[in-house]
Amino acid sequence: MKAKKPAGKSQIRTEIIGTGSYVPETRMTNKDLEGKIETTDAWIVERTGIRERRIASKDEAASDLAFQAARKALEAAQAAPEEIDLIVLATSTPDMFFPSTACIVQDKLKATRAAAFDLSAACSGFVYALAVGEQYIRSGTYQKVLVIGTEIMSRLINWTDRTTCVIFGDGAGAVLLAPSSSESGILSTHLHSDGSLWDLICVPGGGSAIPPSEKMLAEQLNTIKMKGNETFKVAVRSLEEVAWEALRANDFLPSDVSFLVPHQANLRIIRAVADRLQLPMERVVINLDRYGNTSAASIPLALDEAVREGRIKKGDMLLFLAFGGGLTWGASLVRW
Ligand code: COA
Repeated sequence: MKAKKPAGKSQIRTEIIGTGSYVPETRMTNKDLEGKIETTDAWIVERTGIRERRIASKDEAASDLAFQAARKALEAAQAAPEEIDLIVLATSTPDMFFPSTACIVQDKLKATRAAAFDLSAACSGFVYALAVGEQYIRSGTYQKVLVIGTEIMSRLINWTDRTTCVIFGDGAGAVLLAPSSSESGILSTHLHSDGSLWDLICVPGGGSAIPPSEKMLAEQLNTIKMKGNETFKVAVRSLEEVAWEALRANDFLPSDVSFLVPHQANLRIIRAVADRLQLPMERVVINLDRYGNTSAASIPLALDEAVREGRIKKGDMLLFLAFGGGLTWGASLVRW
Protein backbone atom coordinates (compact mmCIF):
# COMPACT_ATOMS: atom_id res chain seq x y z
CA MET A 1 0.00 0.00 0.00
CA LYS A 2 1.43 3.40 -0.98
CA ALA A 3 1.24 6.23 1.53
CA LYS A 4 0.91 9.81 0.31
CA LYS A 5 3.97 11.85 1.16
CA PRO A 6 3.20 14.95 3.25
CA ALA A 7 3.25 18.10 1.12
CA GLY A 8 6.55 20.00 1.18
CA LYS A 9 8.46 17.06 2.62
CA SER A 10 10.67 15.00 0.39
CA GLN A 11 11.18 12.31 3.00
CA ILE A 12 9.10 10.74 5.73
CA ARG A 13 10.85 10.29 9.07
CA THR A 14 10.60 6.85 10.70
CA GLU A 15 9.67 6.51 14.35
CA ILE A 16 9.92 3.57 16.75
CA ILE A 17 6.37 3.39 18.16
CA GLY A 18 6.75 0.28 20.35
CA THR A 19 9.44 -1.94 21.83
CA GLY A 20 9.37 -5.46 23.26
CA SER A 21 11.79 -8.11 24.41
CA TYR A 22 11.92 -11.63 25.74
CA VAL A 23 14.53 -13.83 27.38
CA PRO A 24 14.22 -17.54 28.23
CA GLU A 25 13.69 -18.41 31.90
CA THR A 26 16.79 -20.54 32.51
CA ARG A 27 19.77 -18.62 33.90
CA MET A 28 23.30 -19.91 33.50
CA THR A 29 25.63 -18.13 35.91
CA ASN A 30 29.41 -17.89 35.73
CA LYS A 31 29.48 -20.22 38.74
CA ASP A 32 27.56 -22.81 36.68
CA LEU A 33 30.26 -22.53 34.00
CA GLU A 34 33.02 -22.98 36.59
CA GLY A 35 31.73 -26.53 36.98
CA LYS A 36 31.95 -27.26 33.25
CA ILE A 37 35.20 -25.67 32.04
CA GLU A 38 38.42 -24.26 33.43
CA THR A 39 37.30 -20.73 34.21
CA THR A 40 36.30 -18.54 37.12
CA ASP A 41 33.53 -16.07 37.80
CA ALA A 42 36.25 -13.47 38.52
CA TRP A 43 37.94 -13.98 35.11
CA ILE A 44 34.67 -13.74 33.17
CA VAL A 45 33.51 -10.63 35.05
CA GLU A 46 36.87 -8.90 34.71
CA ARG A 47 37.46 -9.73 31.03
CA THR A 48 33.85 -9.40 29.75
CA GLY A 49 31.53 -7.87 32.40
CA ILE A 50 29.16 -10.84 32.02
CA ARG A 51 27.74 -12.47 35.17
CA GLU A 52 25.01 -14.70 33.75
CA ARG A 53 23.16 -15.46 30.52
CA ARG A 54 19.83 -17.01 29.57
CA ILE A 55 19.57 -20.38 27.86
CA ALA A 56 16.57 -21.40 25.77
CA SER A 57 14.78 -24.62 26.63
CA LYS A 58 15.00 -27.58 24.23
CA ASP A 59 11.55 -26.90 22.81
CA GLU A 60 12.16 -23.18 22.18
CA ALA A 61 13.25 -21.97 18.73
CA ALA A 62 14.38 -18.49 17.67
CA SER A 63 10.86 -17.83 16.32
CA ASP A 64 9.35 -18.48 19.78
CA LEU A 65 11.58 -15.86 21.40
CA ALA A 66 10.89 -13.48 18.51
CA PHE A 67 7.14 -14.01 18.78
CA GLN A 68 7.13 -13.05 22.48
CA ALA A 69 9.22 -9.93 21.88
CA ALA A 70 7.11 -8.91 18.86
CA ARG A 71 3.85 -9.43 20.76
CA LYS A 72 5.07 -7.02 23.46
CA ALA A 73 6.23 -4.44 20.90
CA LEU A 74 2.79 -4.52 19.25
CA GLU A 75 1.10 -4.21 22.65
CA ALA A 76 3.29 -1.20 23.53
CA ALA A 77 2.43 0.43 20.18
CA GLN A 78 -1.25 -0.51 20.53
CA ALA A 79 -1.08 -1.99 17.06
CA ALA A 80 -2.77 -5.12 15.73
CA PRO A 81 -0.81 -7.86 13.91
CA GLU A 82 -2.90 -7.30 10.76
CA GLU A 83 -1.56 -3.75 10.54
CA ILE A 84 2.01 -4.96 9.90
CA ASP A 85 3.13 -4.48 6.28
CA LEU A 86 6.60 -6.00 6.63
CA ILE A 87 8.59 -8.13 9.07
CA VAL A 88 12.39 -7.90 8.86
CA LEU A 89 14.02 -10.40 11.21
CA ALA A 90 17.74 -10.46 11.97
CA THR A 91 19.24 -13.70 13.21
CA SER A 92 22.25 -16.01 12.92
CA THR A 93 20.30 -18.84 14.52
CA PRO A 94 17.20 -19.25 12.34
CA ASP A 95 14.71 -22.03 13.12
CA MET A 96 15.78 -23.72 9.87
CA PHE A 97 17.48 -22.89 6.54
CA PHE A 98 14.14 -22.11 5.00
CA PRO A 99 11.47 -20.89 5.23
CA SER A 100 12.69 -17.74 6.91
CA THR A 101 12.15 -17.37 10.65
CA ALA A 102 10.32 -14.13 9.76
CA CYS A 103 7.64 -16.20 7.96
CA ILE A 104 7.29 -18.50 10.98
CA VAL A 105 6.89 -15.46 13.26
CA GLN A 106 4.35 -14.01 10.81
CA ASP A 107 2.29 -17.17 11.24
CA LYS A 108 2.61 -17.13 15.04
CA LEU A 109 1.56 -13.48 15.18
CA LYS A 110 -1.20 -13.91 12.57
CA ALA A 111 0.27 -10.89 10.79
CA THR A 112 -1.63 -11.96 7.70
CA ARG A 113 -0.94 -8.88 5.51
CA ALA A 114 2.81 -8.75 6.04
CA ALA A 115 5.68 -9.59 3.71
CA ALA A 116 8.44 -11.25 5.72
CA PHE A 117 12.12 -12.03 5.33
CA ASP A 118 15.27 -12.71 7.36
CA LEU A 119 18.45 -10.71 7.28
CA SER A 120 21.89 -12.00 8.17
CA ALA A 121 24.43 -9.56 9.60
CA ALA A 122 25.46 -11.45 12.76
CA CYS A 123 25.64 -9.20 15.83
CA SER A 124 24.99 -6.09 13.68
CA GLY A 125 21.74 -7.65 12.49
CA PHE A 126 19.43 -5.33 14.39
CA VAL A 127 20.98 -2.09 13.11
CA TYR A 128 21.00 -3.54 9.57
CA ALA A 129 17.34 -4.60 9.86
CA LEU A 130 16.42 -1.21 11.30
CA ALA A 131 18.10 0.51 8.35
CA VAL A 132 16.20 -1.72 5.89
CA GLY A 133 12.87 -1.22 7.67
CA GLU A 134 13.44 2.52 7.75
CA GLN A 135 13.87 2.66 3.97
CA TYR A 136 10.40 1.18 3.44
CA ILE A 137 8.76 3.74 5.73
CA ARG A 138 10.85 6.66 4.46
CA SER A 139 9.97 5.89 0.85
CA GLY A 140 6.27 5.81 1.73
CA THR A 141 5.98 2.15 0.69
CA TYR A 142 4.84 0.85 4.08
CA GLN A 143 3.14 2.20 7.22
CA LYS A 144 4.11 -0.44 9.80
CA VAL A 145 7.34 -2.42 9.78
CA LEU A 146 8.23 -4.88 12.52
CA VAL A 147 11.98 -5.23 13.08
CA ILE A 148 13.15 -8.16 15.18
CA GLY A 149 16.50 -9.45 16.46
CA THR A 150 16.32 -12.98 17.83
CA GLU A 151 19.00 -15.49 18.75
CA ILE A 152 19.52 -18.85 20.38
CA MET A 153 23.30 -18.56 20.45
CA SER A 154 23.52 -21.47 22.92
CA ARG A 155 22.84 -23.81 19.94
CA LEU A 156 26.08 -22.64 18.27
CA ILE A 157 28.31 -23.02 21.32
CA ASN A 158 31.09 -25.53 21.80
CA TRP A 159 30.72 -25.95 25.57
CA THR A 160 34.34 -27.06 25.88
CA ASP A 161 35.69 -23.84 24.28
CA ARG A 162 36.15 -21.45 27.21
CA THR A 163 37.00 -18.52 24.95
CA THR A 164 33.49 -18.47 23.43
CA CYS A 165 31.07 -20.36 25.68
CA VAL A 166 31.26 -17.75 28.45
CA ILE A 167 30.27 -14.90 26.13
CA PHE A 168 26.97 -15.66 24.42
CA GLY A 169 23.35 -15.89 25.52
CA ASP A 170 19.82 -16.24 24.16
CA GLY A 171 17.12 -13.58 23.77
CA ALA A 172 15.01 -11.47 21.44
CA GLY A 173 14.03 -7.85 20.97
CA ALA A 174 11.60 -6.13 18.61
CA VAL A 175 10.56 -2.63 17.55
CA LEU A 176 7.60 -1.46 15.51
CA LEU A 177 8.34 1.29 12.97
CA ALA A 178 5.84 3.79 11.58
CA PRO A 179 5.92 7.20 9.88
CA SER A 180 6.67 9.87 12.47
CA SER A 181 4.15 12.57 13.19
CA SER A 182 6.63 14.62 15.24
CA GLU A 183 10.32 15.50 15.50
CA SER A 184 10.97 12.02 16.93
CA GLY A 185 12.45 9.33 14.77
CA ILE A 186 15.50 7.84 13.11
CA LEU A 187 17.81 10.67 12.02
CA SER A 188 20.25 8.53 10.08
CA THR A 189 21.65 5.01 9.76
CA HIS A 190 25.18 4.06 8.70
CA LEU A 191 26.19 0.53 7.68
CA HIS A 192 29.59 -1.00 6.89
CA SER A 193 31.13 -4.40 6.16
CA ASP A 194 34.59 -5.80 5.60
CA GLY A 195 34.25 -9.26 4.11
CA SER A 196 38.02 -9.76 4.10
CA LEU A 197 37.74 -10.34 7.86
CA TRP A 198 34.93 -12.92 7.68
CA ASP A 199 36.99 -15.55 9.49
CA LEU A 200 37.49 -13.51 12.69
CA ILE A 201 34.18 -14.85 13.95
CA CYS A 202 32.19 -17.52 12.15
CA VAL A 203 30.42 -20.87 12.27
CA PRO A 204 32.19 -22.61 9.39
CA GLY A 205 30.18 -25.83 9.15
CA GLY A 206 26.60 -26.83 8.48
CA GLY A 207 26.05 -24.66 5.40
CA SER A 208 26.78 -25.30 1.73
CA ALA A 209 30.56 -24.81 2.11
CA ILE A 210 30.97 -27.58 4.70
CA PRO A 211 27.67 -29.46 4.88
CA PRO A 212 26.82 -31.67 7.85
CA SER A 213 28.86 -34.86 8.01
CA GLU A 214 30.32 -37.03 10.75
CA LYS A 215 33.70 -35.36 10.21
CA MET A 216 32.19 -31.88 10.42
CA LEU A 217 30.45 -32.77 13.68
CA ALA A 218 33.55 -34.47 15.10
CA GLU A 219 35.53 -31.28 14.43
CA GLN A 220 32.68 -29.21 15.89
CA LEU A 221 32.64 -26.96 12.84
CA ASN A 222 28.97 -26.28 13.56
CA THR A 223 30.02 -24.09 16.50
CA ILE A 224 31.41 -20.56 16.86
CA LYS A 225 35.08 -20.04 16.03
CA MET A 226 36.41 -16.70 17.16
CA LYS A 227 39.70 -14.84 17.16
CA GLY A 228 38.83 -12.90 20.28
CA ASN A 229 41.80 -10.56 20.55
CA GLU A 230 41.68 -9.39 16.93
CA THR A 231 37.90 -9.06 17.03
CA PHE A 232 38.23 -6.90 20.14
CA LYS A 233 40.61 -4.44 18.52
CA VAL A 234 38.67 -4.08 15.26
CA ALA A 235 35.44 -3.69 17.24
CA VAL A 236 36.69 -0.71 19.25
CA ARG A 237 38.11 1.02 16.18
CA SER A 238 35.06 0.44 13.94
CA LEU A 239 32.54 1.40 16.60
CA GLU A 240 34.32 4.66 17.33
CA GLU A 241 34.58 5.48 13.61
CA VAL A 242 30.94 4.79 12.83
CA ALA A 243 29.83 6.71 15.94
CA TRP A 244 31.64 9.80 14.66
CA GLU A 245 30.20 9.23 11.18
CA ALA A 246 26.65 9.26 12.59
CA LEU A 247 27.33 12.29 14.80
CA ARG A 248 28.95 14.31 11.99
CA ALA A 249 26.14 13.44 9.56
CA ASN A 250 23.77 15.21 11.94
CA ASP A 251 26.10 17.99 13.11
CA PHE A 252 26.10 16.56 16.61
CA LEU A 253 28.75 16.09 19.26
CA PRO A 254 28.92 13.18 21.71
CA SER A 255 27.61 15.60 24.35
CA ASP A 256 24.32 15.73 22.38
CA VAL A 257 23.80 11.99 22.95
CA SER A 258 21.48 11.21 25.88
CA PHE A 259 22.11 7.45 25.75
CA LEU A 260 24.47 5.16 23.90
CA VAL A 261 22.72 1.81 23.34
CA PRO A 262 25.57 -0.40 22.13
CA HIS A 263 25.70 -4.02 21.06
CA GLN A 264 26.37 -5.87 24.31
CA ALA A 265 29.52 -7.82 23.37
CA ASN A 266 32.01 -7.01 26.08
CA LEU A 267 32.00 -4.33 28.77
CA ARG A 268 35.64 -3.48 28.02
CA ILE A 269 34.80 -2.83 24.34
CA ILE A 270 31.86 -0.62 25.36
CA ARG A 271 33.96 1.26 27.95
CA ALA A 272 36.74 1.87 25.43
CA VAL A 273 34.28 3.30 22.89
CA ALA A 274 32.49 5.43 25.51
CA ASP A 275 35.88 6.68 26.69
CA ARG A 276 36.95 7.69 23.18
CA LEU A 277 33.65 9.55 22.74
CA GLN A 278 34.05 11.03 26.24
CA LEU A 279 30.61 9.70 27.17
CA PRO A 280 30.19 8.97 30.88
CA MET A 281 29.08 5.38 31.61
CA GLU A 282 25.86 6.70 33.23
CA ARG A 283 24.79 7.52 29.68
CA VAL A 284 25.46 4.03 28.36
CA VAL A 285 22.76 1.35 28.51
CA ILE A 286 24.30 -1.92 29.73
CA ASN A 287 22.60 -5.24 30.41
CA LEU A 288 25.26 -7.72 29.30
CA ASP A 289 25.95 -8.55 32.94
CA ARG A 290 22.56 -10.36 32.94
CA TYR A 291 22.29 -11.63 29.36
CA GLY A 292 25.77 -11.84 27.82
CA ASN A 293 26.11 -11.26 24.10
CA THR A 294 22.73 -12.02 22.51
CA SER A 295 23.99 -11.03 19.05
CA ALA A 296 21.25 -9.45 16.89
CA ALA A 297 18.93 -9.29 19.91
CA SER A 298 21.19 -7.26 22.17
CA ILE A 299 20.35 -3.68 21.13
CA PRO A 300 16.53 -4.04 21.03
CA LEU A 301 16.69 -5.99 24.31
CA ALA A 302 18.70 -3.23 26.01
CA LEU A 303 16.52 -0.54 24.43
CA ASP A 304 13.28 -2.17 25.56
CA GLU A 305 14.48 -2.54 29.15
CA ALA A 306 15.62 1.10 29.30
CA VAL A 307 12.33 2.31 27.81
CA ARG A 308 10.21 0.23 30.19
CA GLU A 309 12.27 1.34 33.20
CA GLY A 310 11.49 4.94 32.20
CA ARG A 311 15.20 5.64 31.77
CA ILE A 312 14.78 6.69 28.14
CA LYS A 313 12.34 9.58 27.79
CA LYS A 314 10.66 11.45 24.95
CA GLY A 315 13.13 13.78 23.23
CA ASP A 316 16.24 11.81 24.31
CA MET A 317 18.92 11.38 21.65
CA LEU A 318 19.94 7.72 21.28
CA LEU A 319 22.97 6.33 19.52
CA PHE A 320 22.78 2.64 18.56
CA LEU A 321 26.18 1.08 17.80
CA ALA A 322 26.59 -2.47 16.51
CA PHE A 323 29.45 -4.71 15.53
CA GLY A 324 29.63 -8.36 14.50
CA GLY A 325 30.68 -11.17 12.22
CA GLY A 326 31.11 -10.44 8.55
CA LEU A 327 32.65 -8.23 9.64
CA THR A 328 29.73 -5.86 9.84
CA TRP A 329 29.18 -2.70 11.85
CA GLY A 330 26.78 0.19 11.93
CA ALA A 331 25.19 3.07 13.79
CA SER A 332 21.84 4.72 14.05
CA LEU A 333 20.94 8.06 15.63
CA VAL A 334 17.40 8.22 16.95
CA ARG A 335 15.47 11.06 18.58
CA TRP A 336 13.10 9.33 21.01
N1 COA B 1 38.39 -18.36 31.59
C1 COA B 1 39.66 -18.30 31.99
N2 COA B 1 40.68 -18.04 31.17
C2 COA B 1 40.37 -17.84 29.87
C3 COA B 1 39.06 -17.89 29.38
C4 COA B 1 38.05 -18.17 30.31
N3 COA B 1 36.75 -18.24 29.93
N4 COA B 1 39.09 -17.63 28.06
C5 COA B 1 40.36 -17.43 27.72
N5 COA B 1 41.14 -17.56 28.81
C6 COA B 1 42.59 -17.42 28.90
C7 COA B 1 43.29 -17.65 27.58
O1 COA B 1 43.44 -19.02 27.33
C8 COA B 1 44.59 -16.94 27.80
O2 COA B 1 45.42 -17.79 28.53
P1 COA B 1 47.00 -17.84 28.19
O3 COA B 1 47.51 -16.44 28.46
O4 COA B 1 47.51 -18.86 29.14
O5 COA B 1 47.09 -18.24 26.75
C9 COA B 1 44.21 -15.77 28.69
O6 COA B 1 42.92 -16.10 29.26
C10 COA B 1 44.07 -14.48 27.95
O7 COA B 1 43.35 -14.71 26.76
P2 COA B 1 42.95 -13.58 25.79
O8 COA B 1 42.24 -14.16 24.62
O9 COA B 1 44.13 -12.68 25.54
O10 COA B 1 41.91 -12.80 26.73
P3 COA B 1 41.18 -11.48 26.43
O11 COA B 1 41.44 -10.53 27.51
O12 COA B 1 41.37 -11.01 25.01
O13 COA B 1 39.66 -11.91 26.57
C11 COA B 1 37.80 -12.34 25.18
C12 COA B 1 39.11 -12.88 25.70
C13 COA B 1 37.23 -13.40 24.24
C14 COA B 1 36.86 -12.13 26.33
C15 COA B 1 38.04 -11.00 24.43
O14 COA B 1 39.09 -11.15 23.52
C16 COA B 1 36.84 -10.52 23.69
O15 COA B 1 35.80 -10.27 24.28
N6 COA B 1 36.97 -10.32 22.37
C17 COA B 1 35.91 -9.82 21.57
C18 COA B 1 34.97 -10.94 21.28
C19 COA B 1 33.64 -10.48 20.87
O16 COA B 1 33.15 -9.47 21.33
N7 COA B 1 32.99 -11.24 20.00
C20 COA B 1 31.70 -10.97 19.56
C21 COA B 1 31.76 -9.91 18.54
S1 COA B 1 30.13 -9.45 18.16
